[in-house]
Amino acid sequence: MGNETKQILIDDARRAGERVGLTSDEIIINGGKPLHGRIEVRGAKNLATKAMVAALLGTKPSVLRNVPNISDVRVVAGLLALHGVQITKGEEPGEFLLDPSNVESAHMADIDAHAGSSRIPILFCGPLLHRLGEAFIPDLGGCRIGDRPIDFHLDALREFGAVIVKEPRGISLTAPHGLKGANIELPYPSVGATEQVLLTAVLAEGQTELKNAAIEPEIIDLICILQKMGAIINVEPNRVIFIEGVEELGGYKHRAIFDRNEAASWAAAALATEGDVFVGGAKQEEMMTFLNVFRKVGGAFEVEDDGIRFYHPGGELVPVTIETDVHPGFMTDWQQPLVVALTKANGVSTIHETVYENRFGFTDALNKMGANIVVHKDGLHDYTRRVARRDFEQAAVITGPTPLVGAEIEVPDLRGGFSHLIAALTAKGQSKVTNVGIISRGYEDFIGKLTQLGADFIFEA
Ligand code: EPZ
Repeated sequence: MGNETKQILIDDARRAGERVGLTSDEIIINGGKPLHGRIEVRGAKNLATKAMVAALLGTKPSVLRNVPNISDVRVVAGLLALHGVQITKGEEPGEFLLDPSNVESAHMADIDAHAGSSRIPILFCGPLLHRLGEAFIPDLGGCRIGDRPIDFHLDALREFGAVIVKEPRGISLTAPHGLKGANIELPYPSVGATEQVLLTAVLAEGQTELKNAAIEPEIIDLICILQKMGAIINVEPNRVIFIEGVEELGGYKHRAIFDRNEAASWAAAALATEGDVFVGGAKQEEMMTFLNVFRKVGGAFEVEDDGIRFYHPGGELVPVTIETDVHPGFMTDWQQPLVVALTKANGVSTIHETVYENRFGFTDALNKMGANIVVHKDGLHDYTRRVARRDFEQAAVITGPTPLVGAEIEVPDLRGGFSHLIAALTAKGQSKVTNVGIISRGYEDFIGKLTQLGADFIFEA
């Protein structure tokens, strides 16, 4: 493919993702006003981007619906376009048509330039090895919430027969003898490594047994997509996934599962601002653990067919002790938005973060606004905890209630950034939140949604 055609495809992919980039990187919020109203959540960031990569495995076009208009989607669309996947917009909003008929190698420099701040490129390994026999994966971005190594991914790929060479700007992979099914046990039920194994095993020769797999709803949704394409995958008890490799996969038509992280974030915003928000598209089953905690803290919710109403029913908020965990536990992505509500609870709450080593950086800003949050970088060594999980953990001890006051704060990462927005919305007086562009990586049109919910803010688009 000529450079000109390739550029047109990349531009197409960008247009398909529409413009989500914010021209201004700061928002001024006048806090203290409860959020009220209805917003809709779209497809999950942590499924849609992977579903787009899955389309690479097929010989026929795929249709993905309910794709959120976020910058992580644009990055993946750009990378797919670079590899010859033609992406066009379908008839309904958020519908992508992905045609992988002409998959081809891309230049390392182009891949590197387009990979942006996403972690999804690592999932291109298996599909590109199957389609092209080689892959180059640039060094990864993503939120700075811990080391975020890729050793589980690389070990699994080697088990399939991939040969991996470290390059100055990333890794290059080949499979001189093809990819063959393997018996793999993950050291930890990593979401990304489970997806890596799925995307590689479906077309590998023979059978793959994956032990200690992650079973997040987004992974089950990805398995549904792969099954639609022709894959044979059994999810068995005790975190075992069994995959029988097939010779060829076709396309899929699929509506992405809703974004439960976005739903939980708006729920937390409703509670912290003492508001009432109907989150259209949210579903109960995938949020059960969150809903239990939300209720224990003193929030109320009503599950309807088309979404969930989250509100503050009046009365005091109650402190809780939470351990983040893999599914079906309390997601690590849910803790940051909820912490703001916990600053309003009457007493001491504790959050043990067991998934990432460094996910409390956002609390500095809350303390600046008047919160009383002490982060124990090595955890609290509480041996009475339900399950001993990792070598590391962090704990945050939040003592409330502490009214927050407006301040100038800078967004550190995606979920921490949303928590900063909530803090500013609840604070007395005016706050300036800078670096808000990061939030558009995972929250579709959060500015429009704030307007819909009646927030008082100034944002120059
Ligand atoms: C996914 O990240 C999500 N990202 C994260 O969402 C989410 O927090 C996380 O899963 C847990 O649910 C995407 O889906 C794009 P992991 P992932 O592999 O796949 C360690 C958000 O805000 N690990 O399950 O990268 C790792 O360091 C984000 O939307 C290794 O040690 O998460 C971490 O401590 C942030 N070696 C733990 O496992 C590896 O090779 C869990 O990571 C891989 C992971």
